[in-house]
Formats: sequence, structure tokens, C-alpha cells
Amino acid sequence: MVNPPSSAIADLDVCQEFCRYSLEKPDDFWAEQARFIDWETPFQHVCDYSQPPFAKWFTGGRTNICHNAVDRHLATRGDQPAIYYISSETGEQRTLTYRDLHHEVLRMASCLRALGLNIGDRVVLYLPMIPEAAVAMLACLRLGIIHSTVFAGFAAPNLATRIDSCDAKLVITCDAATRGSKHIPLKHLVDEALDLAERKVSAVLMINRGLDTSVNLKPGRDYDYSVFADECAHNATPEKLPCVWLEANDTSYVLYTSGTTARPKGIQRDTGGYAVAIAASMHHIFGGRPGETFFSTADVGWVVGHSYTVYAPLICGMSTVMYEGTPLCEDGAVWWRIVEQTGATVMFASPTAIRVLKKQAAQSFTRHNLGTLRHLFLAGEPLDETTSIWIRETLKHVEIVDNYWQTETGWPLLSMMPGIGPIRVKPGSPGFPVYGYKLEIVDADTGLPVPRGEKGVLTLGLPLPPGCMPTVWQNDAMFERHYCGQFPGTMRYSTFDYAVQDDEGYYFILGRTDDVINVAGHRLGTREIEEAASSHPAVAEVAAVGVHDEIKGQAVICFVTLKRPDEVTSNVALNAISKEIETAVVNTLGALARPAFIGIVRNLPKTRSGKVVRRALLAIAEKRELGDISTMEDPAVLDDIRRALSLKHIAS
Ligand code: PRX
Repeated sequence: MVNPPSSAIADLDVCQEFCRYSLEKPDDFWAEQARFIDWETPFQHVCDYSQPPFAKWFTGGRTNICHNAVDRHLATRGDQPAIYYISSETGEQRTLTYRDLHHEVLRMASCLRALGLNIGDRVVLYLPMIPEAAVAMLACLRLGIIHSTVFAGFAAPNLATRIDSCDAKLVITCDAATRGSKHIPLKHLVDEALDLAERKVSAVLMINRGLDTSVNLKPGRDYDYSVFADECAHNATPEKLPCVWLEANDTSYVLYTSGTTARPKGIQRDTGGYAVAIAASMHHIFGGRPGETFFSTADVGWVVGHSYTVYAPLICGMSTVMYEGTPLCEDGAVWWRIVEQTGATVMFASPTAIRVLKKQAAQSFTRHNLGTLRHLFLAGEPLDETTSIWIRETLKHVEIVDNYWQTETGWPLLSMMPGIGPIRVKPGSPGFPVYGYKLEIVDADTGLPVPRGEKGVLTLGLPLPPGCMPTVWQNDAMFERHYCGQFPGTMRYSTFDYAVQDDEGYYFILGRTDDVINVAGHRLGTREIEEAASSHPAVAEVAAVGVHDEIKGQAVICFVTLKRPDEVTSNVALNAISKEIETAVVNTLGALARPAFIGIVRNLPKTRSGKVVRRALLAIAEKRELGDISTMEDPAVLDDIRRALSLKHIAS
């Protein structure tokens, strides 16, 4: 690594000083950051931490995210692009200025009002990367309605679980989407989900893209968005639909994410703290400035899509890009064409996408002028050193910034901060703690801090800074016990990630402590996958593990035992069952969870108390040392696992 010039060292000190101030005088620090947004009523207290571990930020303050993201820019930025929509799937391109966006948000809000939705009601959004997704999110927040976005690649049962969990009154979807050449019938999937859901939603609003002529609108329940919006147009004015001023701690959205349980957890987000945190992060961490273009490739169904495709760029008066399509379009040059076309200065993508692009011809990176692009931020999964160096060399002047965070935190907690000063990247590391976060790596058993250089669990001191989850949706106990109660005697938030700090203070993330698998930057719980596979009638037991994968970081593999193994012996029959189990997983959870391998075995390796020893399954699959297997009831079972895996190798 090249030594930084002395000015860079001085600027690293500036970053450290900034972080120190944030921790020593948090009230002063966050009161200053709160100026990034408009407040209708000033807050009385910066932080109310009278009921640990629950923190309330900016209490008494009233604001509205839609006002901050749209209305307040109209006077000065009405004609500036707010959203560049570019679709490789349909070939469509559309630019919405801030004035257009305001108009569209009012149209959507008039429909929400006409459907009887009110402050605190929940709306599920099941939409691909089209501007209407951002419009729907903003329209909900304008009226104080809580949105819960469900990734449009999730299957119907997954959607049903989320509709039930947040007790949604309305689902907003579109007729269909395509991914690559694959048709995704979203409206049909919504119909299926509503049949499965226990709670009944009162309405479905469907944006008709003309991609699926077979959709049916159920009278009295389903509305064609453009027809209905025209009917409500007389109410679509700022006077009739003013922004509702919410208390800073009112909920803005709930986003479900996978954990150790079979059911996803609803990550709750407040209003004022979140708006302040992401606006400040856009400035200090991402270095994005008003009037510039931010290009996040993240889908609106994920946390990055919420914070950095939609909210932060708009709150900061930037133009944001919504790209619908894969990075492989135009021979792998589509992203760079978009950078050139929109003049993007900052990008956000995932390491998996970069590893996929690595296979493209070198000229795909040089075909377009990337002169405006300063930084490419990558997050969601480990960015290996090789990929980090490769993309840095390929994009030449563009600095690559690995940053680490979670759905729970809403914004980065480990990152370099080029918005504050020059940075010194160490490939393989997401850098240093960000201002506002009190990081400590602790021993997994004792919860005591480990010496520098030793691996431990990455934890955060409480209260968590603004923008982080205040609690789990309707489950305070889970926030208290699961997230903040891992280490008795010391109340700290656990990230459930292992980490280590090197002698220069750089952090390295070493994987999850729990059973969460990360496929291409997307979180999947082993329990969810096991439940889905177990729905096949022939299956007795399932163990799912995440194994190392060159491109996606991790891949799902499953070991399955059958209820009547003696009845299924031929390879043809075993293959047929494997295929059916695979289909059951995809139909329940979506294509993302498709197992890369399903091995049918006689027994699973278990401890004497009957717990599956996943560690052993993983070690065999990754061809590593087994470690201590003395607690295992019958180590001979492992031969069967090896045999199943070797069959896979023969097959492939
Ligand atoms: O395990 C860590 C991994 O992704 C998890 C969070 O995933 P999600 O809730 O989907 O939020 C993604 C927000 C970017 C973390 O617990 N992870 C995220 N970023 C990194 C990472 N692992 C290593 N390096 C990263 N930069």
C-alpha cells in the first residue's frame, strides 16, 4: 500500500476529531447535524434515554420526510432532475424533476386518502425499480402512513407473512416486472399472497405497466392506479394534502429482514432521527453534495434502496438514479453508461455485482467517460481484497469505499468518510468507526473487550445513534433480549458479526455469529430455508448452511433426510425429490434462496442432545478441518455427507 501524503494524515486526524466530538458531546453534535433537515416544531431534547435500551431522538420535534425530500426543494430546484429512471428491462427512460415528483406524490397521496388510509396505518409496497416505488414511499410518509416495502423477487408466501405481520390495509403493486428475460407476474403473486394471508387487506392499487394482459382486478378491492388517480385528481393539491407534521419518534417505515428465527423481523424506523442521520451521512460519509447525482444500484426492497436510492439523495437535493435491470446489460457497460449520462459523482453497489462484472471484457469499463465519478461505495457483504484492488485499478481515478452496516442500523457504522477529508483505504477492510457509534469488539462468551488483534463479536454501545432501529416492530422484548441482551451484565447492541481490529485500527468483518446466510448481499435465515424445504411431504429433516461461493460470497446448500428413505433409492428418484425440494424453497422464499445443492442423506450429524452440528456440515462442504467433534453422537454420519457432496461433484 502507498503511504499517504502528510496532508492525508492530517485529514485522518480531522475525521478522528469529528468522531471524538460526536461521542464526547453527543447532544451538541447531533443538534448540529439536525440542521440538515427542516423542522416544523423544534425538538426539546436531543436524546431521551430514560428507558434503556430504548432511545428517543429529537423528542418534541415535528418534521416530515416527504417535505424534506420533495416540497422544500421546489423553490430552488423545481426544474432539477430528482429521479432518473432508466430501464434495461423495458427500454424506458424517464426523468422526473422535483416539480414532477411533487405532482406524482400528490397524485399517489390523493389515492391513499381516498382509500381511507390514515396516520399510522400500514401499506405494503411490492414493486420493482420504477419511479412509482419512490413515489409511493414518499406519498405514504407525506400522510404519516407507515410503509413496508417487500422485495419484488420474494415469493407469495413471503409476501403474505409480511402483510400479516404488519397488518397492512393496502398493497401497492404493478401488473408485472421482468428480470433478464424472466417474467414476474407481481399482481398474480399478490392475489396468491392475499389468499394465503390471515389478515385481509381492504384494497390493492395496481400500476398498470402493460406487461401482463392476463391480470384481473377484483371489483371492490383492486384499483387501476392511473384510472383511480385521475378520479382523485381534484384532491391532489398541496393545500388538500399538506405534509403531516410527525413527532420525530413516529414510525416512518418497517422493513423486514431475516434473522435466526423462521419468521423475519420487522425493523422499525423513526422519522426525525432517521432523516437527520441519513442526510448527515450523505454529506460526511458519501461526500454527496446538493445538485449532484447519486447512483445507488440497490433495489428499493432493501435497506440500501430506502436510505440511499430514495431518501438521502432527495433529502439532500441531489438527483437519484433508479436503474431497473442487471449490471450485465450492454456487455457489462450499462452502469458506466448511466454514470456518463447522468454525471453521477457517487455510486453505491454490491461486491457481488463487481465480481460478476469482473468477467466482462476490459473495454466495457473504458467505453464511457467516468470523469465525474469520485467514489464507488460497496456494502452488504464482505468485499474481498482481490476484488477491491481489481475494481480500484480498473476504474482508475475512482476511490473504492467498503462500508459496513445492517438493516437494523439504517446507515454505515464502519466506513471511510471522504465527505470530511481524504481517505486512506486498506483493501479488505471497511475502515474505521463512523461518528456517533461506540464500537467495541467483545469476547463471545464473557462479553468483555478483547485485546486489539483478537477476534470477537462486534457490539455497539447504547443508546444507538439516530437513524438506527428504535425497536423491533411490535416486539420490544426482542430488541431488549435478542439485540441488547446477548452479554448479561453489559447492555450492548450485538451486530451478530465477528470482527477484528488490526494494529493500525482498521476493522475487518469475519462473518456472522448466528445462522444468517448472506447470498449476493442478501440476508437469508437458515431456519426460513429449512422450513420451506420441510414443506415437501417426503422430507423428515433439513439442515441448511451457507458455503463460500466465488461470486455470491455465500451459496445455500441443504442436507435432507427422508421420512421413508428405503422407498427412494434410485438416483433418478433421488434427483426428482431434490428438484421438488428446490422448487418448494423457491416458491416459498423466492429465487434468491434457491439452494445450490441439495444432498439427500441417511442422517444429519448431531450432538448427543440432538442439535444439528452445522459447523461440521460447513467444514466438509468447504473442505476444511473438522475441528472438535467430540460432542457428536455418531461421527460416522459424516461419511454419508461426504458421499452426498462427492455425487454433486460427479454431477457437475
Ligand atoms: O454480516 C454483515 C453483512 O451484511 C449484514 C447486514 O445485511 P443487511 O441487513 O442486508 O444490511 C446491508 C446494509 C449494507 C451484516 O450484519 N455486511 C454488510 N456490509 C458488510 C458486511 N460484511 C462485510 N463487509 C461489509 N462491508
